[in-house]
Amino acid sequence: MDARASFYLILPFLVLARGASAATLTFTNQCPYTVWPGTLTGGGGGQLSSTGFELASGASSTIRDVPDAWSGRVWGRTKCATDASGKFTCATADCGSGQVSCNGAGAIPPASLAEFTLAAAGSGKEDFYDISLVDGFNLPLSATPQGSGSSCSVTSCPSNVNSVCPHELAVKESDGSIVACKSACLALNQPQYCCTGAYGSPQTCPPTNYSKIFKGQCPQAYSYAYDDKTSTFTCAGGADFLVTFCPS
Ligand SMILES: *[C@@H]1O[C@H](CO)[C@@H](O)[C@H](O)[C@H]1NC(C)=O
Repeated sequence: MDARASFYLILPFLVLARGASAATLTFTNQCPYTVWPGTLTGGGGGQLSSTGFELASGASSTIRDVPDAWSGRVWGRTKCATDASGKFTCATADCGSGQVSCNGAGAIPPASLAEFTLAAAGSGKEDFYDISLVDGFNLPLSATPQGSGSSCSVTSCPSNVNSVCPHELAVKESDGSIVACKSACLALNQPQYCCTGAYGSPQTCPPTNYSKIFKGQCPQAYSYAYDDKTSTFTCAGGADFLVTFCPS
């Protein structure tokens, strides 16, 4: 069989595969260090084909079986290693699975997150996406929609918030270097920082001196629970997404 004949035999299967899993999620690591991305499906849906993998500095990797109405979050773990007993752990954004795969476990805060609620192409619905520092910060990242028209824009947290993290929020290595920055809610556990109790609505939970530090570094990212106005991005349903670690 010549190459062209086999192409026309394979083509219908390529089209069917595309119809069954309409979105791709590509990860690129521009950090000068290795990152171990993690993925978590929300809302009780099935996990993606990869829930965690290693991504060397400069490398890219694509998950192709993202359901067209997928909702979930992704993050990057840093300073990971396997100990003598075979247990895999990371200094930041670990998922606690003991393995490179997270298997349905989420990031233990603090972790910078990229969050997605996707819609099928032609459904009339939109893809929603954001970068969130509500669970703190561990590394800079961005989310870039691809192939769904010009109305879609990148959202990014390009700054290293660790460099301005107040000491009461800082997660430090034994050498004193700051590897992650907790949210004020996690570190101080007070209702005005967690938007709970009397502070449990957008009207009664304004930005705080701590959330303003995150917002000042990353104006496009969620800095606290009700930071919706400037932090939620939309795109016509059916976009693919690129998640970049250390985008600038
Ligand atoms: C934020 O405000 C609280 C309460 O007024 C204060 O105790 C804390 O030191 C302030 N922190 C920063 C980083 O400004």
